[in-house]
Amino acid sequence: MDFVITGGSLAEVEADLIVVFASDDEIADLRVRASHPDLANLIDTVRKGPGFKGTPFQNDWLYPAPGKTSRVLLVGSGKSEELDLRRFRQLVAAAVRQARGKGAKRVCIVLPDFAGSDEATVLETLADGAVTGLFEPDLYKGTREQNSIEQVIVWRPDGADGATQALERGQYVGEAVNFGRWLAEEPANIMTPPRAAEEIQKMAREHDIECEVLDEVALRAAGMNSLVSVAEGSQWPPRVVVLRIRRGGSAKTLGLVGKGVTFDTGGISIKPAADMHYMKYDMCGAAAVVSAMLGLAKLATACNVIAVAGLVENMPGSKATRPGDVVRAANGKTIEIINTDAEGRLVLADALDLARKRGAERLVDVATLTGSIAIALGAGAAGIMGVPQDWVDSVVASAGLSGERVWQMPLYPEYKDQLKSNIADMMNVGGRPAGALTAATFLREFVDDTPWAHIDIAGTAWQEKDSAWQTRGSTGIMIRSLIRLAESVSVQ
Ligand code: BES
Ligand code: ZN
Ligand code: ZN
Repeated sequence: MDFVITGGSLAEVEADLIVVFASDDEIADLRVRASHPDLANLIDTVRKGPGFKGTPFQNDWLYPAPGKTSRVLLVGSGKSEELDLRRFRQLVAAAVRQARGKGAKRVCIVLPDFAGSDEATVLETLADGAVTGLFEPDLYKGTREQNSIEQVIVWRPDGADGATQALERGQYVGEAVNFGRWLAEEPANIMTPPRAAEEIQKMAREHDIECEVLDEVALRAAGMNSLVSVAEGSQWPPRVVVLRIRRGGSAKTLGLVGKGVTFDTGGISIKPAADMHYMKYDMCGAAAVVSAMLGLAKLATACNVIAVAGLVENMPGSKATRPGDVVRAANGKTIEIINTDAEGRLVLADALDLARKRGAERLVDVATLTGSIAIALGAGAAGIMGVPQDWVDSVVASAGLSGERVWQMPLYPEYKDQLKSNIADMMNVGGRPAGALTAATFLREFVDDTPWAHIDIAGTAWQEKDSAWQTRGSTGIMIRSLIRLAESVSVQ
C-alpha cells in the first residue's frame, strides 16, 4: 500500500471511493465545498435526512456521486471539539476497514481541518491509521482477510507541499505498531521466550539494529536471579534481548525496558481459569520497546537508545519458584517472593538494572503489570508513575503528541511500607490497596537515581471487543509514544 498526496479539484480525483469525515455540528467541510460543490450539496442532502448524524464511526455510502469518483464513504467524526489525534487515527482505520470490505483499490481521503494539531502530525496520524487499521490478527484462519487497498490518495487543498515526509513517517510508525501487535498476538505455544528472542533478532538484523541475546547461562552469570526465578517452572529458558541504536552523538541514552512474559499462568500462585488465555498478551511491554526500536530504525532517527526485553514464561512445575522463596536481584537487593503471580516486577527489576549498567541515562519501562491499573483506569488510559516529575512530564507530552493516553498516578513514600519483608529487603507484593502503585514502588528500588517512568499497560494492551477501527486483540499501545520520546530526547 502506498500513499500519495494531491490537491486541485476534488471532482477530478480518480479513485474507487472518496472518504469524507463529517462532524455532527457542521454541515459540510468547507474545503470540500470550495473544491467540489456538487459533492458538498450531496453530503448536505444526506445530512439533512433522518439517517446520518455524524456521530463517531457512523458511516454511510453515497452513490452515485458527482465527479470522477462515483462512491463516497461518509464517516461520522462526532463533535469537532472532541476530534483529537487518537480519534482521528481510529476514524481513518475505521474508514479503510470499510473500504477494504468493498474491495476498493484506490481510496481518496479528504484531510479534515481540525484545530489543535499541526498538519504534519495530522498527516502522520492519517497514514498510521490506514496502516494499523488494516492489521488483522487472523494469523491461523483458513481464509485470511485480504487487503484490497493499493493506494491511499490524501487530498488537501494545498496539494503535496511538505506532506510526503509526514505520510512516510506515519507509515513507518504504523508498521512498527503492527509488528508489536503481531508479536503479542502469536499464541504462547508458538511465541515462547527463545522464539521471541529469535524473531526480535531477525528484525534487528534486517534493520541494522545492534542486537545481543542473553541466554540462561549469561543471565545467571550476570546475577539476574530475580528475572530467572520467574522462568524456573517453564520448559522454556529465559532470554533477555538488548537492542541498541547509537546515532545520537552526544545525546543522552534512553533506556526502554519491557516486560515480556510470553504466558503468565501465575506460577504456583496460579490464576483462575477464567480469562487466563489473555495472558499471552503479558509480553506487550517487551513487544512495545522492540517495536519502537524498529520504528526508530525505519525513521533513521538520530538518537541513542537501548531497549531491554525480558522474556520469560511463568509456569507452575516442580522446579518453579514457591511463595516464600527469596532471591537476590542483580543489584544485590533481596526479594521475598510472596506471590509468584507478581512476576512482572521480578523481570523488570533485573531488566531495569541491566539497562542502567549498559548506559541508559533515562529510563522508561512498559509492562502489563497489574490488574489494579485496569480496575483504576480501564481501557481509558495507561497508568504512568515515576520520578523526577519533569521526566514523567516529557513522557506524558510524547504520548499526547502520539494520540495515546497516559494518566499519572502517585508514588507516595508510604507505599514502600507495604513491601516490608521480615526476611529480605522487600516482598514482591504489597497487598490489594494501591496495587499498581506498590508495584511501581517496588520497581523504583532498581533504578537508583536514574530518571525513570513506569507505564502500566495492563488495561490498554489489548481490547476485548471488536471496534470500528480494529478487531479485538493487541493494540500496540505505547509504541508510537516511545518513538516520539526517543526523538525528543535526541534533540535535548
Ligand atoms: N500479568 C498480570 C497483570 C495483568 C492482569 C495484566 C490482568 C492484564 C490483565 C500480573 O503479572 C499479575 O498477575 N499481577 C497481579 C499482582 C498481584 C499478585 C499483586 C495482579 O495484578 O493481580
Ligand atoms: Zn502475574
Ligand atoms: Zn504478568
